[in-house]
Amino acid sequence: MSVQQATARAGANIALVKYWGKRDQQLNLPAAGSISITLAGLETRTTVTPDPSLDADCFVLDDAEQPAGRVGAVLDLLREMAGEATSCRVESVNNFPTGAGLASSASGFAALVTAASQALGLELSEAKRSELARRGSGSAARSIFGGFVEMDAGQRDDGSDAVAHPLLVAEDWPLEVVVAVTDCGSKAVGSRDGMNHTMRTSPYYPAWVETVAGDLDLARRAIEARNFEVLAEVSEHSALKMHASMLAARPGLVYWNPATLACIHAVRDLRAAGTGVFFTVDAGPQVKAVCLPGEGERVAQALGKQKGVAKVMVTGLGPGALVVTGP
Ligand code: PMV
Repeated sequence: MSVQQATARAGANIALVKYWGKRDQQLNLPAAGSISITLAGLETRTTVTPDPSLDADCFVLDDAEQPAGRVGAVLDLLREMAGEATSCRVESVNNFPTGAGLASSASGFAALVTAASQALGLELSEAKRSELARRGSGSAARSIFGGFVEMDAGQRDDGSDAVAHPLLVAEDWPLEVVVAVTDCGSKAVGSRDGMNHTMRTSPYYPAWVETVAGDLDLARRAIEARNFEVLAEVSEHSALKMHASMLAARPGLVYWNPATLACIHAVRDLRAAGTGVFFTVDAGPQVKAVCLPGEGERVAQALGKQKGVAKVMVTGLGPGALVVTGP
């Protein structure tokens, strides 16, 4: 088997119907499905170089060496499939703040699996790459695809049906997304720990899991019909319901800061005044405002004026994970 250097890029994604909770820790299987949009402008670029002179995998993220941890574990799965033992050098660069609730693990593991499968000479289907990306981070399974994407919870014990599939390509409904960064630092509690803590201690967690299927149906139908109003309602509901489950954990998880709340109110005021926009918030303090085509700049201006907002970015929906160079 010939191994060669390969590079891939993948976009971050933002869930409209959130994933929060697992049915299996080992295989990283979600307790329920989720629906997301893949972004064009927030991306990870990852180069994987198999190198027989290395004793162990080496992972460099944004120029700083990191423990190989989950990156090495995902590489092990790919190496086993390829019948290879070679250690790899993995160099990853994000064009947005890492680990601050902007889904860097989603774009990161989608880019890793795409680059590493190419580097190790594996020809994998998108569904297989989605399954492998999920082992690194649940949301990464969705970043394999572009546009609107649904992740299935699956039922099988081996997780082979817990994979994502595309609903619409980006061009079919080119919504815009404004990201309001309210804190540039890393989040205090990562999503894996936050999820497990919520599952263990929040009395609202069972209600959260039970109601996701209904939200998925509504969101899927709204996307098919390009019904922005319905998508706005169900997306805000899903985000707030997820945060309600976290707030009710013991001790409660509070990811928001005052600027997060200011942006949420600003988005609702804009919508009340006729702008096509809704908000969503993940396991961090940043607010993502999803807008009808052409509304992004106006929304960015309004969010940029909120006290505590450090930066706003406007982007659109983008493609799935792609190899950009390689054999
Ligand atoms: O993929 P993880 O383990 O980083 O979890 C993602 C969790 C949320 O971003 C809060 C929700 C989601 O569906 O992306």
